[in-house]
Amino acid sequence: MKLDITKAAQFLPAGTVESYEPAVNAAMKALEEGTCPGNDFLGWLHLPTAITPGFLCKIKACAQTLRENCEAVVVAGIGGSYLGARAVLEALGDTFGWLKASDIPRILFAGNNIGEDYLSELIDYLHGKRFGVINISKSGTTTETAITFRLLKRMCEEERGKDMARKVIVAVTDAKKGAARTTADKEGYTSFIIPDNVGGRFSVLTPVGLLPIACAGFDIDALVKGAQDMEKATDISVPFADNLCAQYAAIRNALYTNGKKIEILVNFQPKLHYVNEWWKQLYGESEGKDKKGIFPAAVDFSTDLHSMGQWIQDGERTIFETVISVDKPEHKLEVPTDEENLDGLNFLAGKRIDEVNHQAELGTQLAHVDGGVPNIRISIDRLDAYNLGQLIYFFEKACGVSGLVLGVNPFNQPGVEDYKRNMFALLNKPGYEAESKAIRERLK
Ligand code: PA5
Repeated sequence: MKLDITKAAQFLPAGTVESYEPAVNAAMKALEEGTCPGNDFLGWLHLPTAITPGFLCKIKACAQTLRENCEAVVVAGIGGSYLGARAVLEALGDTFGWLKASDIPRILFAGNNIGEDYLSELIDYLHGKRFGVINISKSGTTTETAITFRLLKRMCEEERGKDMARKVIVAVTDAKKGAARTTADKEGYTSFIIPDNVGGRFSVLTPVGLLPIACAGFDIDALVKGAQDMEKATDISVPFADNLCAQYAAIRNALYTNGKKIEILVNFQPKLHYVNEWWKQLYGESEGKDKKGIFPAAVDFSTDLHSMGQWIQDGERTIFETVISVDKPEHKLEVPTDEENLDGLNFLAGKRIDEVNHQAELGTQLAHVDGGVPNIRISIDRLDAYNLGQLIYFFEKACGVSGLVLGVNPFNQPGVEDYKRNMFALLNKPGYEAESKAIRERLK
């Protein structure tokens, strides 16, 4: 993986990025020594190199049981218990379904919304199918996931019988607390633990991500190896100028301090759409607090050049962009020649589609830089499990460092509770009687 910040640094006075070295080094030291705010949530920091082959074997064995007994597996989870797995599955899967081999179940995602139509149509789709459920919730009490699991558990037991349901329902949750743990223990489900010291958005390399990814038939050994190599490459011992996480954390903070309040993560491969979504949560939830933080936005190019391109090129100059660039595609396809050439595209005949895409990428970079948009470029040679593992760990560590440089606790999310309190009060949840009365007054 390569990181090029030169087309972003050119927007700053000379020496600005380098001036962040002491702050970045201090943040890295605080992470390493566990002296930073949120230091009870640093389990992700050396997680990749702590993963053992034995642990991966357990994940793979469970995935195999699901594969043998299911044609569809619903992954129920939200936020950090959802987006990492989806990001990897979408990036590695074939675009029109993940049915590469007949023994791979279709992976469906639920528990990430409260849409009655979504759930009804899911249930209709599953009806009569051999399906299983991976129920993922660290707290074990998240409303969206719990409602979904309640529906799917009952359906699975009714349609497949209690014994088979016990085999094809798996829990990924806390070791001791929460309804998901209580149910798993009571029913005798296979279960995996989400470590106490790993927050949801940093948990993709725990069973939260690894089990669904293995279930879909992707190479979790390569994914973990990529993360392990990135853990070593961004170790505190690697100097500031060579350390990708240090550089990314520094340039982001430098741009933010110089008025660039919005970061747009850009891809030129539709398969990376959910990597964007995962990244938005990682950075948004980690940095957006204490009335501070870069707003993380994301676009898919060239698609969104036809919708958001105008704003990015020409709107308020408060943005910078970070492009994930993939050097080589997995397939080969050329633009065909057409005798009539009515569309005037014969100048492209014989060229790889990917070459057209790459020229679009380079042309866009130059145009945006000319338009006043600082450009950071992250390049990987292929979109494979190894490189995704690298990317995941890179973004996680850079996020921790960046948040500490910004001066926030990157590992909490106090703001996400407010809507829940109001929702529970409006739904008359026991214990919310006082709030219920007050909130109804406000809505009058
Ligand atoms: O990052 C986070 O903490 C959140 O996005 C949670 O992962 C999300 O709310 C789901 O929580 P839980 O896993 O407890 O169901």
